[in-house]
Amino acid sequence: MDYSRKISERLWNQPDKGELESRREETFIDDIIQKSHIEKELLSHLDGIRTVFDGGAGCGRFSILLAKHGCEVTHFDISQPMIEKAKERAEKEGVLDKITFVRGALEDLSDFADQSFDMVISFDAPISYTHPNQEKVIGELTRICRKRIIISVSSRLGYLPYLANPIQKNQFLLDENCDDPFVRWCVENKANAVESFSFHKDAVMKLWEDGLMGGSEEIAEYENGGTPWCITYTFMPGELENILRRFGVKEITMAGPGAYARTIPNELLVKIMNDPNQRADFLEVCYRYDANPYVCGMGKDNLLASGVL
Ligand SMILES: C[S@@+](CC[C@H](N)C(=O)[O-])C[C@H]1O[C@@H](n2cnc3c(N)ncnc32)[C@H](O)[C@@H]1O
Repeated sequence: MDYSRKISERLWNQPDKGELESRREETFIDDIIQKSHIEKELLSHLDGIRTVFDGGAGCGRFSILLAKHGCEVTHFDISQPMIEKAKERAEKEGVLDKITFVRGALEDLSDFADQSFDMVISFDAPISYTHPNQEKVIGELTRICRKRIIISVSSRLGYLPYLANPIQKNQFLLDENCDDPFVRWCVENKANAVESFSFHKDAVMKLWEDGLMGGSEEIAEYENGGTPWCITYTFMPGELENILRRFGVKEITMAGPGAYARTIPNELLVKIMNDPNQRADFLEVCYRYDANPYVCGMGKDNLLASGVL
């Protein structure tokens, strides 16, 4: 089995993963922007959609939303803790019976027949975690799709600035004083991250060339019993578009959620997010700006693509 899949299985099956992931929109502004963008995109394409496959559906952020809009959803994920969290939330929202939960890896979709779902979605990078099988996985997702596919993968142009900015996440903290463990880590490590930082052109050029975040160090950590972050394949916008086209996807549109917000300092983002009117208006503007093809690569983590079969 490829290391990516083994690493993902260990990482995402940690018992607290479901709980932590389900709170991201309470703590991180970039996550709010990204999920809001995806939600707007999804809701604008629901005409004629009855069945949906959500690959790497996590704790149900979108499977539950679509079930509430009357879709029959197959919620597919490699992680049992994520599935358990999603079931708990689906029950609270009264849509447990509208969702079929399946534990599995995107690398093997052979149980699903050609064109078995009206819509296929996969958000917040599950496809990028299947390296070196990411193209095959996109092909399989298009195979089981009848009408519309919408996916978001890790963005190479979005990630490259991280290598010059180890404190990028601090820009997007909604409440620096909350007790979320990752927020605490960002706040407590900020000074040290700046102090120990130096710019490594070679690391930037390597990511630019091969698109890979992680590799031999993660494999060694895994072999030593550790839980490294997934080896992540980042896509260029044109590359993703060409792959989708090759698999027969048409009318492709792309977006980079987070591109607009990247230009705004934390103090102002927090102010906007804490005022419900400004927040709603701001998220509308982000949706429009981030969907412009000229900025789509500069989204924060993810590159979003939508198209029809
Ligand atoms: C960042 S979460 C995104 C969850 C959800 N799509 C969302 O946008 O809120 C990534 C999800 O992908 C799942 N995942 C990672 N690798 C996978 C694989 N190879 N096959 C299926 N699911 C995978 C993880 O368990 C996790 O739930």
